[in-house]
Amino acid sequence: MSSFVLTQTRDRIARIELNRPDKKNALTVEMYQALAAALQSAEADPQARAILIHGQPDCFCSGNDLKDFLNHPPFREDAPVMQFLRGIAAAAKPVIAAVGGPAVGIGTTMLLHCDFVYAAPETRFQLPFVALGLVPEAASSLLLPMIAGHQRAAELLLLGKPFTAGQALAAGFVTEVVPATELLEYASDAAAYVASLPPASVRATKALMKQRYAAPVQERIAEESRLFRERLAAPEAKEALAAFFEKRKPDFSRF
Ligand code: COA
Repeated sequence: MSSFVLTQTRDRIARIELNRPDKKNALTVEMYQALAAALQSAEADPQARAILIHGQPDCFCSGNDLKDFLNHPPFREDAPVMQFLRGIAAAAKPVIAAVGGPAVGIGTTMLLHCDFVYAAPETRFQLPFVALGLVPEAASSLLLPMIAGHQRAAELLLLGKPFTAGQALAAGFVTEVVPATELLEYASDAAAYVASLPPASVRATKALMKQRYAAPVQERIAEESRLFRERLAAPEAKEALAAFFEKRKPDFSRF
């Protein structure tokens, strides 16, 4: 387990907390391993009837840790990030997220697999894959157009600018906007409520809702990951990532 991912099961809720606030909860390989394991044990634990993922009220997740990511690029299909994504996409139990502050890259795309997403008004979502010379992941290229419609998804995925909780609500992947001070309690109450319902019916209903696109989602995760690895090795991504670490604007004019 990682000290950057805290887990606890109580009141029939498996709670998973991202706990690396000084790096805005950027996710390392070690954290993906811990997240994948936490999901697996929550799914297997009969005491857990709902899974709650959260960070701090002012920080959800700034996406892949870009340094760690360059040192350990996810070149294998069984890389921890892939295990986490496949796990959250296939979770049989309801998954609830409480989101505040930055929710960048996978900090946004993982939400497309959640059943209830509560976001503080100050949340800043962003899908900066194109600006990083990459392509979307987590089947977001399939799910976001499906949830939000092509034009809205194109704006978020192609332009990659930050967007607000209100925009995410309008796009359809945030359930409700909740003040930051009440966020965790509100999301916990929602998790407790769904955990109080007949568990087999909850799981069967979730499975029915996801059935039509469960296989396409897994296929898209694989397809995106192939293109992601290809893009990561290309000069465009090298320039974008160098610019991030050098704290300067990237220059794509020579491509
Ligand atoms: N990978 C590695 N380090 C990251 C990070 C990431 N994704 N996101 C933030 N950090 C680090 C910063 O480098 C900084 O480290 P330092 O204190 O050692 O300099 C620290 O976390 C705090 O981040 P900072 O940028 O100062 O906070 P902010 O509130 O001004 O901005 C973000 C927050 C999330 C908007 C900004 O950090 C950001 O854009 N991060 C990159 C997001 C990204 O591109 N993710 C990858 C998607 S695939």
